[in-house]
Amino acid sequence: MIEPGQPRLLLLNGPNLNMLGRRDPGHYGTFTLADAEQLARDAAAEAGFTLDCYQTNHEGDMLEKIHAAMDHYRGLLINAGAWTHTSYALRDALELTRLPVMEIHISDVQHREAFRRVSVIEDVCMGKTAGLGLDSYRVATEKMCAYLRSLEYGR
Ligand code: DQA
Repeated sequence: MIEPGQPRLLLLNGPNLNMLGRRDPGHYGTFTLADAEQLARDAAAEAGFTLDCYQTNHEGDMLEKIHAAMDHYRGLLINAGAWTHTSYALRDALELTRLPVMEIHISDVQHREAFRRVSVIEDVCMGKTAGLGLDSYRVATEKMCAYLRSLEYGR
């Protein structure tokens, strides 16, 4: 059941993203996860959505959060970290929700190590935003909100 009030989005961050601010600044800048979450929250609020945030390093916890999300959110935004490249369980959980999902990466995954070019979740996502640093979170949120609004207004 969709809850009354403002439509809700959920921003998910996977393994090691709690360490933003301490990771390689060349790929991940110097901002923290709290900065990324706040930017996404503000972008969502600007478009009339409430955004909740969740981060975990435990794959089972992520799967359960996604299962529970399906009745409460209009869309999911996810930086799945290294699970992006490996986790078919994550792919299946995202698909199960039947919600629109936006894949997020901070770094330019297309131009790094070969394994980062592989995404096993991309076919269940409506889009991907990567390589913009901190701004990936803002742009991804804006794209998701615009997409959901376009569905609502039929354009
Ligand atoms: C990442 C890219 C992944 O390859 C990596 O494992 C991460 C972060 C990114 O945001 O650029 O942890 O998803």
